[in-house]
Amino acid sequence: MIAIACDHGGLNLKKTVVDYLKSAGIPYKDFGTDGEASCDYSDYAYRVTASIQNREAESGILICGTGIGMSMAANKARGIRAAVCCDVFSAKMTRAHNDANILCLGERVTGPGHALEIVKAFLGAGEAEGGRHAARRDKISAYEKEHIKG
Ligand code: RB5
Repeated sequence: MIAIACDHGGLNLKKTVVDYLKSAGIPYKDFGTDGEASCDYSDYAYRVTASIQNREAESGILICGTGIGMSMAANKARGIRAAVCCDVFSAKMTRAHNDANILCLGERVTGPGHALEIVKAFLGAGEAEGGRHAARRDKISAYEKEHIKG
């Protein structure tokens, strides 16, 4: 299952992505926001990170104006590797090398057609690569374990 959320800056793109997930038969859970009222991206980021942490969702998609605030918030949560992607190559590579479990998109940066290609690349990528890439990810996990409280 894919957990998805946005703030007011990402609402239209979230609708586009949700329509795609529906049409592709990809299971998802929409954690809001549902209206245009100004809200805090961090609140929505943590709904999605919690869903991944409790293993309800396999991965997530977070959308705000730039994708940056969402990624900053999400990356504070344990076990989360969130990547802002503005192109298809980055979306593939962040799965392959970083084992990203959240894709962040910026509605004010990336047009809907391109964003959908990015989503497809992210969701369609296979397993993350092992070897040196796993070793590098392990260093991030070890740092998190040692230095990040909570
Ligand atoms: C909201 O105006 C905007 O700041 C937010 O959507 C996001 O771009 C933050 O990173």
